[in-house]
Amino acid sequence: MLDTRPAARGARSVPRPTGVERTFAADELIVSKTDPRGVITYANDVFLRVSGYDLDQVLGQPHNLIRHPDMPRAVFKLLWDTLAARQEVFAYIDNLAADGGHYWVLAHVTPSYGADGAVVGYHSNRRRPARSAVERVRPLYQRLLAEERRHPNARAAVEASSRLLGELIAEQAQSYDDWIWSIINDEEH
Ligand SMILES: Cc1cc2nc3c(=O)[nH]c(=O)nc-3n(C[C@H](O)[C@H](O)[C@H](O)COP(=O)(O)O)c2cc1C
Repeated sequence: MLDTRPAARGARSVPRPTGVERTFAADELIVSKTDPRGVITYANDVFLRVSGYDLDQVLGQPHNLIRHPDMPRAVFKLLWDTLAARQEVFAYIDNLAADGGHYWVLAHVTPSYGADGAVVGYHSNRRRPARSAVERVRPLYQRLLAEERRHPNARAAVEASSRLLGELIAEQAQSYDDWIWSIINDEEH
């Protein structure tokens, strides 16, 4: 069912989350590429099948097309800050499909450089995460989201939840990288 309220993302109508989980095979990769602003320039067949969109519905769209409202802003800030520092980043992300279903991925996002060294775009490869990883990440994301919802404006929300993300990770690891790799390495398939 489509949400017909004024869309939070420009003129697009945003699917209403149904809570139905979609999944994909362990040997499949969901791939997309974007321009430097995060506008989609490529999506593979697995991306299209799992998200439920046609290629012409995703090309030229900002990548928040599949943003799930339960994903904390702090995770995307970390993703974009890391890419801006010309680093690659791994993140567990819950995505929203066209029919309102959702699907967890472990994304590996990398910058692409032109001949002059400038960033010409980004590339994300995603695989299916183990259930154990989702179960570790989900409660942390719920705490971040609850923190964000306490704040009236987006800037204050993302500042507070980014601080909280740093604190929660510091309880478990030396850095975000150590934390994410401890979860990846514990995955059992
Ligand atoms: C290569 C690349 C892939 C991305 N993949 C996703 C994705 O799968 N899901 C998602 O919600 N955001 C993804 N993003 C981040 C979005 O651009 C955006 O920051 C995020 O959806 C938050 O949207 P918002 O700023 O409207 O809250 C990706 C960004 C890049 C550069």
